[in-house]
Amino acid sequence: MRVLVADHPLINHKLTYLRDERTDSPTFRRLAEELVTLLAYEATREVRVEPFDIRTPVAPTQGIKLSTPKPLIVPILRAGLGMLEGMVRLLPTAEVGFLGMVRDEATLEVSAYANRLPDNLSGRQCYIVDPMLATGHTLVMAIDYLVGKGADDITAVCLLGAPEGIAHLEERLADVDVPVTLVLGAIDEKLDENGYIVPGLGDAGDRLYGVV
Ligand code: URA
Repeated sequence: MRVLVADHPLINHKLTYLRDERTDSPTFRRLAEELVTLLAYEATREVRVEPFDIRTPVAPTQGIKLSTPKPLIVPILRAGLGMLEGMVRLLPTAEVGFLGMVRDEATLEVSAYANRLPDNLSGRQCYIVDPMLATGHTLVMAIDYLVGKGADDITAVCLLGAPEGIAHLEERLADVDVPVTLVLGAIDEKLDENGYIVPGLGDAGDRLYGVV
C-alpha cells in the first residue's frame, strides 16, 4: 500500500479550523469540501487518461482526456457524503457508488447496511472517500467489496488517519494483488479507548450533519 500525506500549509490551515470544536456544521461542511478538492488533486495524479485529438483556433494538436471505463467514486455513508461534492468537482465524468457502513461503538466492529455498486468493476479505478481512518476496519471491508467486484486500482482519500488504522490496513492488504493508495490530510497521534482519533476532530458524521 502506498501512503501519501498531503503536507501543505493550506491543508493544515483548513484542518485546524475543521478540528476546532467551535466550528459550526455549515463551516465544517465547506471546509471538508475544500479539503477533499485539495486532496483529490494528489489522489488523482495517476488517473488513467487517453490521447484526444483537438483543434485549437490556431492548429491541430493532441491532448488527453480521462479514459473509459470512467472512474468510480465511493463515499462511505454517512460521513463520506461530506467529501463527495469536492471529489466530483475534480472528476466530473466519474460515476458514484455507495457503501453504507456503521461501527458498533462498544465493540468497534463494522457492518455494512447498504451496498449500491456496479456489478462489474473490471478495469475501473475506484476512489473511496471517508473522512476518518480510525481502526481501519471500515476501509478494509470497503476495499474487499471493490476487489470482489473486479476493481483493479483503488485509492482511499481520508482527511485524518490514525497510526493504528494504517498498520491494520498494511497488515490486511499484504496479500491483496490490487494496488491500493491511501491519501491523507494528516496522520494523528493515536486512537483513544473509544476508537476516536486523537486529537482528531470528533465524530465526523455528527459534525457534518448533526448528532443522530
Ligand atoms: N470516526 C469519526 O468520525 N471520528 C473518529 O475520531 C473516529 C472514527
